[in-house]
Amino acid sequence: MCYKIALNFEDGVTRFIECKEGEKVLDAAFRAKINLPMDCSDGVCGTCKCRAESGSYDLGDDYIDDALTADEAKAGLVLTCQMKPTSDCVIAVPTTSTACKTGQQKFAATVAEIASHNDAAIVLELDVEAAAPAFLPGQYVNIDVPGSGQSRSYSFSTAPGEQKIGFLIKKIPGGVMSNWLERAAVGTKLELTGPLGSFYLREVKRPLLFLAGGTGLAPFLSMLEVLAWENSQQEVHLIYGVTRDLDLVLVDEIETYAARLPNFSFATVVAEEASIHPRKGWVTQHMPAEVLHGGDVDVYLCGPPPMVDAVRKHFDDSGVKPKSFHYEKFTPNAVAKEAA
Ligand code: FES
Repeated sequence: MCYKIALNFEDGVTRFIECKEGEKVLDAAFRAKINLPMDCSDGVCGTCKCRAESGSYDLGDDYIDDALTADEAKAGLVLTCQMKPTSDCVIAVPTTSTACKTGQQKFAATVAEIASHNDAAIVLELDVEAAAPAFLPGQYVNIDVPGSGQSRSYSFSTAPGEQKIGFLIKKIPGGVMSNWLERAAVGTKLELTGPLGSFYLREVKRPLLFLAGGTGLAPFLSMLEVLAWENSQQEVHLIYGVTRDLDLVLVDEIETYAARLPNFSFATVVAEEASIHPRKGWVTQHMPAEVLHGGDVDVYLCGPPPMVDAVRKHFDDSGVKPKSFHYEKFTPNAVAKEAA
C-alpha cells in the first residue's frame, strides 16, 4: 500500500510523493529525488522538523525529546526521518523547493472548452494529456499564454484527480489572457506550471466559512467538490460577493452542492448601488454571527486585497478571532502569492 504525501514548500511549490506502508517520509522523498532538510536521520538533531497539516501518521519511537518535544508533536510538528504515514498527508516544509533540489513542475494540456458567462467571466476547460495532475483543492497553476511570452495564475475550479481541469477566468478588456481566449480554438495546446500556493483546504475539524470575491469563487468549487466526494457532514457556509449583477456566475453549480452536502448553505452579494439583487453591499455586511460560531470556525477567503483587509477589520471590530484564517489575494493580472 502507498500513501500520497503532498510536500508543500515555503515558496508555494507542492510536490507529491508516494510513501510505502511503513516507510519514513524522508526516505520516500529521497527516492523521489527530493532532498528534505536532514542531518542525523536518527531522530537526534531536529533538522528534519516539518509540520503535518493533515493526515494520520506514526511519529516513530526512535527520537529524543531535544529533537521533538511532546508539545511540538501535539502541535503537529513531525520529524520526517521518523514519521511513517498511515494515510495520505500534507506536510509543510519550512524551506524552499530549490533548497531541496526540486522545483516547479510543468505539464501540458489541451483546450477542451471555452464558455463565456454573462460576458464577465470565462470557464476554461482543459484536457490533461498525461496523468491527471495532483494538487490540493484551492491551489493554482501558471498558464503560459501562447504567443505572449507571459503567464497568468488561475486557481483550479475542479477537484484533484480529474482528467479535465477547469478554471474560472475574469474577462478583462485588453487583458492578455482575455484577448487570447477570444480567438483561441479547442485543441490548442497549453503549458502549465504547478501546482502552487499555500491556500488549500486543511483537514476539516470545525465549521467552515468560505468567502469568495468575484472569480475568487474558483478554488471554493474545487474544495466543495472534494467535500462532496468525502460526504462531509461539516457545516459549510459560502458568501460569494461580486461587484455587478452580471459578475454573478455559476450560481447553478453552487446550488448543486446544497443538494450534495447536507450542511452547506450560501449567499450571494452584489456591491454596486444600482443592483437589483436582494443582498447588496459587501460580504462583511452579510456575515451573520451564527456563521462565525463565536470563533470556532476555519475561514478561507479568496478575493481582491481590499476584501481581505475589510474581512480582517470586520473580525477585529466584532471581537471574533477565527481558529484559522487562510486567504489568497488576487489582482486582475495574477494570483498574489500571499496567504496566512
Ligand atoms: Fe536529525 Fe531527523 S534528521 S532528527
